[in-house]
Amino acid sequence: MPILLQSAAWTALSAHRNAFAGLSLNSLFAEDPARARRLQAEACGLVFHYARNLVRDDTLALLLRLALEAGLPSRIAAMFAGERINTTEDRAVLHVALRRPAGMPSTTEGVDLGAEVEAVRARMRRFSTEVRDGQWLGYSGRRITDIVNIGIGGSDLGPTMVCEALKDLAHPALRLHFVSNVDGVQIGDVLRSADPETTLFIVASKTFTTQETLTNARSARAWLVAHAGNEAAVARHFVAVSTNAAAVRAFGIDPGNMFGFWDWVGGRFSLWSAIGLPIMLQIGAVHFDALLAGAHAMDEHFRSTPLERNLPVLMALIAIWNIDFLGAHSQLIAPYHQRLHRLPAYLQQLEMESNGKSVGADGQPVGCHTSPVIWGEQGINGQHAYFQLLHQGTQPVPVDFIGVLEAGAEDELHHRIAFANLLAQAEALMRGRSAEQAEAEMRAAGLAETRIQALVPHRTFAGNRPSNVILLERLTPFSLGALIAAYEHRTFVQGAIWGINSFDQWGVELGKQLAARVLDELDPARTAALPGDHDASTEALVARYRNRYRR
Ligand code: F6P
Repeated sequence: MPILLQSAAWTALSAHRNAFAGLSLNSLFAEDPARARRLQAEACGLVFHYARNLVRDDTLALLLRLALEAGLPSRIAAMFAGERINTTEDRAVLHVALRRPAGMPSTTEGVDLGAEVEAVRARMRRFSTEVRDGQWLGYSGRRITDIVNIGIGGSDLGPTMVCEALKDLAHPALRLHFVSNVDGVQIGDVLRSADPETTLFIVASKTFTTQETLTNARSARAWLVAHAGNEAAVARHFVAVSTNAAAVRAFGIDPGNMFGFWDWVGGRFSLWSAIGLPIMLQIGAVHFDALLAGAHAMDEHFRSTPLERNLPVLMALIAIWNIDFLGAHSQLIAPYHQRLHRLPAYLQQLEMESNGKSVGADGQPVGCHTSPVIWGEQGINGQHAYFQLLHQGTQPVPVDFIGVLEAGAEDELHHRIAFANLLAQAEALMRGRSAEQAEAEMRAAGLAETRIQALVPHRTFAGNRPSNVILLERLTPFSLGALIAAYEHRTFVQGAIWGINSFDQWGVELGKQLAARVLDELDPARTAALPGDHDASTEALVARYRNRYRR
């Protein structure tokens, strides 16, 4: 049996779960109304309100014991110390070093990371200031108006999400575009409307081998050269962000136009590195620094706060309780702020690519459920689409409701309506509506008794559905940085407790390898017969595609 499942805390939690068989959230609140004030953690301007979970103080004590038995404090220390905790790739995991303030010592294995990080950041600052101030000119001497980030996964989701979230701080004369899909539609749309004389491309790829990104980048490069009439224009319109200088050079981008980062920055943790260049171009270096400062503040909280008051640790423990002991295998992210609409997509990669694993770091089966399916979009749209299932479906789906207290530039009434909906949904999920309440409402509305009896089962809500509320005072670079870092650390803690390596992603390899082969076989010009070692479905569909292009 896996070590985790043999631990005393795991065994105790498994038994403890039975204590909740007849217990409801409503009864927990009735017994202990003070839990609403007690079961929340605050850090760096963020509130994590977790009272609406099927936990009591003794549950939390057991979960904290589980964290200790899994050696969480030493795992946290190992990450911050730069130990090679990504064992399958033999790498340190040091995205936290990217947000340390300049001057704070940051040395690992004899390398002064701080100096390297600061050198790249200084180049990013210079470059983004030149572009923003109109000093960086395109091949015909005109200033840049459009910036196209070409990247995918971690080289797209973080910058896209942050640029959307902080749009109110955007430079008024720069338009940002993000191209990730290789199918030709996205890049086609951008190129059709862009002016080659004033468009800057950022080719963002940690490895600089990603097929989707390089294909889109080649098309963009060909488009530029065709308009400019010469290759020299590339130097004014293409920059690269990567760890792979040789591949950048081979692609035809001058390494002088490359912003580097390091193998100790995982793709899904890389928005704090040069991968954040589109963010800095959009909001400027001062606001980018504030984003880093928010994340650093959360790092310090995470590193030094006792587990029982540690916000990311509590986020993770509640998630583990819901996943492993209460059977929740999906988790909804519901931000009630339009600017945060890309957050669920970002968190999908963060959590599912990190913890979507069934083998522990020791190579043995983990023996318990790991990452749930993370999904969602902005909350109000969700209410009018899939919230029906949350309220009356057959599976428990814990929800993270994310709200912002201050309206900012928007109309306060609109903001208040959105916030009221957040509160109403969380309350409805928890309290439900009994058959008696449903009947009384229908009687008050004058419905006939036979109709009432027919409708009661449909208008009853079981309630008792767990959710968290995460509140930001205001949506600022600082608070956003803190929020993202909190989720990063939640992911780390879950992985540490499950005993998995959250920092590799071998599971994406097989599909990539097969795609390279199938691509060759789809070529309509290919006359050779298919090798015959695909499954029959793949063969049939390959044949159909080839026939389509032979017509
Ligand atoms: O295929 C998954 C992945 O490797 C992610 O981990 C990564 O964020 C993405 O592809 C993009 O990789 P790269 O930045 O190297 O192009």
